Amino acid sequence: NGVLLPEQILKGKHIIVTAGGTREAIDPVRYITNHSSGKMGFAIAQAAANAGAEVSLIAANTSIPVPNGVDFIPVVTAKELEAAVMKRFTSADGLVMSAAVADFRPAVVADHKIKKTKDNDNLTISMVKNPDIVKQVGAIKQPQQFVVGFAAETNDLLANATKKIQSKNLDLIVANDVANSQIGFNSDQNQVTFMWPDGQTKKTVVESKAKVADELIQIIAKL
Ligand code: CTP
Ligand code: CA
Repeated sequence: NGVLLPEQILKGKHIIVTAGGTREAIDPVRYITNHSSGKMGFAIAQAAANAGAEVSLIAANTSIPVPNGVDFIPVVTAKELEAAVMKRFTSADGLVMSAAVADFRPAVVADHKIKKTKDNDNLTISMVKNPDIVKQVGAIKQPQQFVVGFAAETNDLLANATKKIQSKNLDLIVANDVANSQIGFNSDQNQVTFMWPDGQTKKTVVESKAKVADELIQIIAKL
C-alpha cells in the first residue's frame, strides 16, 4: 500500500552517530572528561540500524555493548572525534551528534607524570578551546543533509537550546536536562525536548533511551 514498514524508514541512508565523552590528556596517566556513558547515542545508533540505515557509530571512551549491525569507530579525544566525523560527513545523509565533547583540552600534555612537590600547594592547568564539531558540520551541510545536535543543560533549557540550534545551524536539537539525575548521564531512562529551528517543541515522557531513540528516528525520517 506504499507505506514503508517501520524497519525500513531509513533504508539506503548513511547516518553518523557520535556517542560517549571525549578524554583530554593532562599527562601520560591522567585526563579530563565528563559523565557521558554513551547510552543515548548507542540507543540512537541501534534504532537507526533497525530502521535500515547504514550507521557509523563514532564512540568516545564507551564501555557498553556495541549495537548490532553498525560500523564502530572508537576515538579518544575531541580532535580525533572531529577527524572521524569530518572524514565521513560529506558522503553521509546526516549526523546525530550525541557525544559529550570536552569544550577545552590542556594546552600542553606533559611528557612525564606531573609530580607534586613540597613547594607546590596548587596546580593550574592551562586549557585551550576544542573545535565545535557540530557547528563546523552545520556550516558545511548541504540542503539534503541533516544535522541533529544535543543540548545538555542544568538551567534555562529551552532558552539555551534555542541559542544552540541557531548558532550551530541545526535541523533539530535534543534538549536534555542534566540536572535531574533520574534522566541524565548513565541512566537507562531519559526525558528530552525535541526542538525545531522554527521554535516548535515536543517534550517526551520519561521513558527508556530506546524509546527516545525510536522517536528521534521517526523525526529524522521526516527530515
Ligand atoms: N559539541 C560539539 N563540539 C564541541 C562542543 C559541543 O560538536 N566542542 C556539540 C555537542 O555534541 C552537542 C552540541 O554541540 O551536540 C551542544 O553541546 P553543549 O555542550 O550542550 O553546548 P556547547 O556549545 O558546548 O556550549 P556550553 O557547553 O557552553 O553550554
Ligand atoms: Ca559544551
